[in-house]
Amino acid sequence: MNFIATATPLTEGVVEKELLELGVKESSIKTGRVEFKTTLENACEIAFKIRTARRILLPLKNFQFDSKEDFFGESKNFEWEEFISPDNTFLVRIKGTNSKLKNTSYTSLLLKDAVVDRIREKKGKRPSISKENPDAVILGYIEENRAQLSLDLGGALHKRGYRSVPTRGTLNETLAAVILKLSGYDGKEFLIDPMAGSGTIGIEAALMSANISPGFLWKMGRGFFSLNLIDEKKKREIVLKAKDEISSPKERIFLSDRDEEAINISRKNAQNAKVLNFIDFSVCDFFNLTPPSKEGLIVTNTPYGEDVSLDEEARFYFKKMGDKLKKEFKNYTASLLLGNKEAIKSIGLRAFKRISLYNGSVEVKLCLYRLYEGSLKEKSQR
Ligand SMILES: C[S@@+](CC[C@H](N)C(=O)[O-])C[C@H]1O[C@@H](n2cnc3c(N)ncnc32)[C@H](O)[C@@H]1O
Repeated sequence: MNFIATATPLTEGVVEKELLELGVKESSIKTGRVEFKTTLENACEIAFKIRTARRILLPLKNFQFDSKEDFFGESKNFEWEEFISPDNTFLVRIKGTNSKLKNTSYTSLLLKDAVVDRIREKKGKRPSISKENPDAVILGYIEENRAQLSLDLGGALHKRGYRSVPTRGTLNETLAAVILKLSGYDGKEFLIDPMAGSGTIGIEAALMSANISPGFLWKMGRGFFSLNLIDEKKKREIVLKAKDEISSPKERIFLSDRDEEAINISRKNAQNAKVLNFIDFSVCDFFNLTPPSKEGLIVTNTPYGEDVSLDEEARFYFKKMGDKLKKEFKNYTASLLLGNKEAIKSIGLRAFKRISLYNGSVEVKLCLYRLYEGSLKEKSQR
């Protein structure tokens, strides 16, 4: 069967690699998504386990349409009753517009009515809508004159459910997992995030290190659990297998931030994710931080925007950061998410890898540095 893993643009390659690790044999990369073939059961297991994709979708119908009426008719002409019973609740989400369907709220109303009408005609009773906790989520993608209707197998995977308070500058959970993988983190080295904010990088690292599937953080009845796509025994098997794979984390994780409130939020989030015991926390300005271990991997989302916005301030701040890393964090590898051109220039270290990413709509660079004496730009790379 065909499935789609949606991905933040520029992260498709990382998502495809993880799909292959999770048992997929055939896949192809498109902008913003990876299309793949596997069994329905494996796709549900992937939705439960994958860290880097935003959603795992089961495509149901792909059609061309020339008018609103056409869209409604084609949407209704599908065996929705085989996937959604009158006792289920559901929700429709639409992405994209075209010249015939310019308003996504109106398009979702049309699709919702088509599904309701079809099920009522076939079953004599209609399913109801739930915005908060729907059993089924139907996603409609509109592109030019085509529509792609899919069922969402795991919901918004970038919202794992452990964040207690939304905080400024926070990375979403799937992007944090992508960054860790691109930084070469394999769960076995000592990891530091010295500008941890709400702790997303450290919490994702702890989940990876202990091999805890993100699905364990879902609220009851999310995604495929509330659908009748696979039987209850298979659902239980997915959970039991993932439970068996959980191990103790191989190394500690260290999170610090100069803002006490940020560390309090990190702690709370780590507790929600049930990884509090794997992480050490400290309130400390990075410029006063003594390396907590002889060697390790630093992965951090450096401040930009409101924290460091003026060119001159940024130049000074990032020069100090580069100097500190070079002098005090010898034998570490640093993977820094930098959102400011001045920052990349001013840091004064030679990156052995630079990777473009999007944090929301902001284009950022993930720069990887090996820190050892002589890693300043003017010296040649070892
Ligand atoms: C962009 S946010 C990091 C967000 C984090 N990755 C997350 O997902 O929540 C930057 C963080 O750096 C912290 N920060 C800025 N300068 C710092 C410094 N000199 N030492 C320690 N923390 C600093 C801020 O307090 C803020 O929490």
